[in-house]
Amino acid sequence: MKIKDSVILVTGASSGLGLETSLVLAAHGAKLVIAARGAAALERAAASLREFTEAVAVPADVSDDAEGIVAAGIARFGRIDALVNNASELGPSPMPRLDALRWQDFERILRVNALAPLHLSQLVLPAMRARGQGVIMNISSDAGVNAYPGWGGYGASKAALEHVSRTLAAELDGSGVRVLCVDPGDMNTTMHQLAEPGVDLSALPRARDVAPAIVALLADDAAHGRFQAQELVAHAAR
Ligand SMILES: NC(=O)c1ccc[n+]([C@@H]2O[C@H](COP(=O)([O-])OP(=O)(O)OC[C@H]3O[C@@H](n4cnc5c(N)ncnc54)[C@H](OP(=O)(O)O)[C@@H]3O)[C@@H](O)[C@H]2O)c1
Repeated sequence: MKIKDSVILVTGASSGLGLETSLVLAAHGAKLVIAARGAAALERAAASLREFTEAVAVPADVSDDAEGIVAAGIARFGRIDALVNNASELGPSPMPRLDALRWQDFERILRVNALAPLHLSQLVLPAMRARGQGVIMNISSDAGVNAYPGWGGYGASKAALEHVSRTLAAELDGSGVRVLCVDPGDMNTTMHQLAEPGVDLSALPRARDVAPAIVALLADDAAHGRFQAQELVAHAAR
């Protein structure tokens, strides 16, 4: 897809990977619809995007108001060309083992990380199908594939997101709509710091190091399916 003048909805765009990806997209001339819960940080993000492009900020929880987020984007720009499901819930920090994870916390993690991305996808897909083009990108994690003690709730939600992505991709085959599922790899972000409190993460890549590779995948009409962190780097280096 041509990034310039495309309308791209990025959830969780007030910090970390969502913010840095939005900044790269804005620098390439995309129009942005951004969402996160904290209104002040989201408005700061929108202000930095508006130095390059048009951006609408929707302070909302993806698990509560998917309709409102999509409607605000459509009202402003008339369409959504790509959806980046990046917002994510880690659950309690420090992360409990599964035998101590409250079911209410697990339900919340599933709602934010698996249900909301599908709900947002359902809201943008009919128009993408009708136009015969569009991109759904779901940001996953290696915890959705591998079993790490303490990461079970978050990991199960990402595993669900992975299967949603695979199934959507099969259902949309031939429609012109691409589905991407991306493990960005370990990054030094707020979420990772909450996952590993007290651990020095300064040697990890920053979100701004990873964001250009995310944008390269969005732009590449030949890119389909799942990309793990090493493949993301290899794709960007091509
Ligand atoms: N960091 C890593 O090492 C790593 C590794 C693998 C995968 N990932 C994935 O990469 C993505 C980005 O993570 P990150 O590390 O950049 O996280 P981050 O810096 O903590 O940013 C998370 C963003 O999501 C928003 N958010 C969280 N819950 C939300 C909700 N219910 N509704 C709307 N917005 C919400 C946050 O803002 P508010 O709190 O204001 O809502 C914030 O803008 C996530 O999908 C994560 O699972 C990260």
